[in-house]
Amino acid sequence: MVAKKKVLVLTGGGDCPGLNAVIRGIVKRAKKEKDWSVIGSMEAFNGILYEPMQLMKLNNKTTAGIHVRGGTILKTTNKGNPFEFPTQNKDGSWRIADQSDELINRIHNLGIEAVINIGGDGSQRISQKLFEKGLNIIGVPKTIDNDVSATDFTFGFRTAVQIATDSFDKLVTTAESHHRVMIMEVMGRDAGWIALHTAIAGGAEVCLIPERPYDINKIVDHINQRYKGGKGFVNIVVAEGARPKGGTATGEQSDEMGYEHQRLRGVAFALSAQLKAAGCQADIRETVLGHTQRGGTPIAFDRILATLFGVKAFEMVLDKEYGYMTSYKNNKITSVSLKSAIGEYNFIKEDDYHIHAAKAIGISFGD
Ligand code: F6P
Repeated sequence: MVAKKKVLVLTGGGDCPGLNAVIRGIVKRAKKEKDWSVIGSMEAFNGILYEPMQLMKLNNKTTAGIHVRGGTILKTTNKGNPFEFPTQNKDGSWRIADQSDELINRIHNLGIEAVINIGGDGSQRISQKLFEKGLNIIGVPKTIDNDVSATDFTFGFRTAVQIATDSFDKLVTTAESHHRVMIMEVMGRDAGWIALHTAIAGGAEVCLIPERPYDINKIVDHINQRYKGGKGFVNIVVAEGARPKGGTATGEQSDEMGYEHQRLRGVAFALSAQLKAAGCQADIRETVLGHTQRGGTPIAFDRILATLFGVKAFEMVLDKEYGYMTSYKNNKITSVSLKSAIGEYNFIKEDDYHIHAAKAIGISFGD
């Protein structure tokens, strides 16, 4: 029997609804080629670097029905950068070491032809560096934040917006009953897409996003006018990365080994304090949605986009389109070079029509 060619699949960075649908799409498409098999590396590239390695056979049996499930059957990690890999010394202390050569050797020794890396911006930067070192690699973009510029949408984003909108709807009725100002904090890091889409879908009075720093006095005026006009309640959506004019985002430095970054959280409470200090008389309550936005079942759109990306990624392996990433542009599934994909973030532009429409229906950005 002729040995099958092998493709390695992994998921890296934060989880996102739709990851399992990509994995299943790859496996089902590969099955149509009689001479290919699919292997998963657990927890991004860590599965290859662990001693012993942690791999999973990916076939019809292990992936049946997983497109409906959130999370990832391959698990994931934010501490899986092979160029800065947390490695334990003999005395138990830790150091950061470049394990990229070891990783590539191990992948070659396993007889793997190609790698499909499903991950966000950080993961695709790693893909590009490994590609430059000669690894046959293809990227699949994922993130609920929708901040990857080389694709019109990433899967997971619309599920996050749906979850946020469902929560927002619930906060509207309680805001109305109590004549309160309700602040709902959503994710998105430095991009305001989840907040903006949720504000339009839910009918928020105020939407605060990182791309448009706010003036607290303008928000207080907007709240006062609404109360004066007889509508005794206000619903605000605030993106976790939003900040006042001249101010900074709310959060703290996380020093998790191998995942040092600024952790954004708490802007809802900061905003609440700023509103009171600026003279807002209404009762205010805060809700932080947090990781609920990343969990659970992907909505149909995200399952479909993820499946199309999975099929496309495997076909890119067949075509040896290494150094490229799947993309959804102008309603078509296509591919873009990893290099161009990681060059620019997808922030909300000044002239984005969503901003125009949101303002037209009375949503204030406090700017
Ligand atoms: O990038 C996705 C995201 O959910 C961001 O919206 C958020 O800031 C971050 O990840 C949270 O990361 P973690 O799960 O590591 O706290």
